[in-house]
Amino acid sequence: MFVNTLHKITIAIDGYSSCGKSTIAKALAQRLNYNYIDTGAMYRAVTLYALRNGLIDTQNKPSFEALIKTLPKIKVDFVFNPHTKTSETFLNGENVDKEIRTMEVNENVSKVSAVKEVREKMVALQRQMGKNKAVVLDGRDIGTNVFPDAELKLFMTADQKIRAQRRLDELSSKGDYHELEEVLQNLLKRDYEDMHRKENPLIQAKDAIVLDNTDLNKEEQLEFVLKLIADMQLTKDEQ
Ligand code: DC
Repeated sequence: MFVNTLHKITIAIDGYSSCGKSTIAKALAQRLNYNYIDTGAMYRAVTLYALRNGLIDTQNKPSFEALIKTLPKIKVDFVFNPHTKTSETFLNGENVDKEIRTMEVNENVSKVSAVKEVREKMVALQRQMGKNKAVVLDGRDIGTNVFPDAELKLFMTADQKIRAQRRLDELSSKGDYHELEEVLQNLLKRDYEDMHRKENPLIQAKDAIVLDNTDLNKEEQLEFVLKLIADMQLTKDEQ
């Protein structure tokens, strides 16, 4: 599929947990030579920091006061790895790309990402990182909140069991073994929390295009999105 790479756009990909958002976002970024920003990784990095430093008080009612106070000390960024050809997540200068994808982080990240102050900091960072366009961002509130003017918005979904199986395979490939049911329940709980939180909940933007990838492989999804971009550009050229 030919895509005119002269018109730099912002691509916002939102959707449920483990729908393959990052797989398609990475493939698109590589194909278009765009930057890729994994916003979930940013919330995961803050969660890892909070866990490591005992900043989540789960004893009584979850309290995030200590985390909010410490936020100025938390620096999250991405560094491109030329070997893997992907951006890796750094927390205060340490590569934490693997550590942020454990079940412990999975279990706490929705709570942390619902904290208003955490979101304000991450959203500001995401807007700064994406300000020059030519960027693909994936998350939960990209098309509705971070970049509501993004030229292309996708809302991704897939069958629950398939999503759980994909996450289980990802964890197992890193030696982190769990039962399918545990992973499925974690996904459903995260989806619920992401959709029902007060700050920037997960909702489908009115102008988003739904991509259900239950029965689509990576190449088919990539073709689908590249065609959308090519059609958009054609319309723009005709105007
Ligand atoms: O995409 P992910 O599973 O790595 O995201 C981890 C969590 O971060 C997810 O449960 C919700 C939260 N998140 C968010 O609130 N807003 C975003 N833009 C991205 C992720």
